[in-house]
Amino acid sequence: MTPPTAALARQTNDLDAYWLPFTPNRAFKRAPKLIARAKDMHYFTPDGRAVLDGLAGLWCANTGHNRDPIVAAIARQAAELDYSPAFHFAHPKSFELASRVAALAPADLNRVFFCNSGSEAVDTALKIALAYHNVRGEGTRTRLIGRERGYHGVGFGGISVGGIVNNRKFFGSLLAGVDHLPATYNREQQAFTKGEPEWGAHLADELERIVALHDASTIAAVIVEPMAGSTGVLPPPKGYLQRLRAICDKHGILLIFDEVITGFGRLGCAFAAERYGVTPDLLCFAKGITSGAVPMGGVIAREGLYDAFMHGPEHAIELFHGYTYSAHPLACAAGLAALDLYRDEDLFARAKRLEPRFAEAAMTLKGLPGVLDVRTVGISAGIDLSAKPGAPGERGYEAMERAFHDEDLVIRITGDTLAIAPPLIVSEAQIAEIFTKTARVIKAVM
Ligand SMILES: Cc1ncc(COP(=O)(O)O)c(C=O)c1O
Repeated sequence: MTPPTAALARQTNDLDAYWLPFTPNRAFKRAPKLIARAKDMHYFTPDGRAVLDGLAGLWCANTGHNRDPIVAAIARQAAELDYSPAFHFAHPKSFELASRVAALAPADLNRVFFCNSGSEAVDTALKIALAYHNVRGEGTRTRLIGRERGYHGVGFGGISVGGIVNNRKFFGSLLAGVDHLPATYNREQQAFTKGEPEWGAHLADELERIVALHDASTIAAVIVEPMAGSTGVLPPPKGYLQRLRAICDKHGILLIFDEVITGFGRLGCAFAAERYGVTPDLLCFAKGITSGAVPMGGVIAREGLYDAFMHGPEHAIELFHGYTYSAHPLACAAGLAALDLYRDEDLFARAKRLEPRFAEAAMTLKGLPGVLDVRTVGISAGIDLSAKPGAPGERGYEAMERAFHDEDLVIRITGDTLAIAPPLIVSEAQIAEIFTKTARVIKAVM
């Protein structure tokens, strides 16, 4: 028989079994980028190299990594209550967390439905929108409107309203009855803008064209990211979201904000809805709710929308939707501890204060060879690099590899676009370090 330690050693060195998500598996397994532990702004590789986190995990670890209060809350919760049924029963922390999230959300966004990821949050919101019209006797409203270059996770609802071709083209005909607004990005008009670009509010009027084509009576909801993160940090043009809200109101269409990235401080407010003074009917969140420590997502609904479901016999379920792990005790404990940290360290206001410095540091990349655009908003930046002739995405990939292996820095890529969005505890010196390293990486891959 193989001695247990030898078996363990063999297993931990075997990279074959794990099929990595959204990753070129063969390239990864040739040169693995392994992270063994983390603290605050840094990761540590198995051999102890400190690597600066320029992406808050994957846009989620907004408080920084392995913060003591979150770690302790998860440990306490695991010892006290591992799980209780999510349907027909509940545990106290689920109510506490829902109340805290509702208190952070603007206006009458007061009712919180929990799930486990951003993808589930999006599919939940789309289903709530369809069901809402149904219970009000407007069951013809079945169309869902997304936007080109939108990312709404990987569920069938999310990829259908999403606007990223590779996320859609392999997966059949997707949901029927979906249409898309045009993307809000135009390099000629917007290149090297700090914050929201002046040009582009008129693109919201495309919704009127879609309404004219399909008729408002067939349209349930419009879903957009207030700032599109995954396709390279595309802040909304000034006035765009306000215009979208007005057109939705005019036609009785629900407006859904996907704030999976923008929620919990990324743009200097609890939610982007607050930054832009626009209240959606449904707001999706995930990631930052637990600072990435335990999977969790959710949807915040306006009170009136929830009330529309509260009819019929009291013993009957009002919304036939939910997950075994909705409001999981460990996620709720992590969420409460993360919200305490955001409050106690005033991290949303900190992000707002740092925004101009962050933008300035990012703009130092302007003028480097091959840098086509730099965009910033809140504590996030998108940097477009020129593609290698005939090999789109290769330069971006090389940049990520060099950042990790040569510069001890984690950044994100989408094709040849780099994204930078560090935890909100990032210091000014670390902001400078991130962009100095990024500049060296860019020079090396050109
Ligand atoms: C705006 C947005 N929606 C949804 C998702 C999907 O979240 P998850 O990966 O947790 O399913 C993401 C992930 O990055 C996102 O950025």
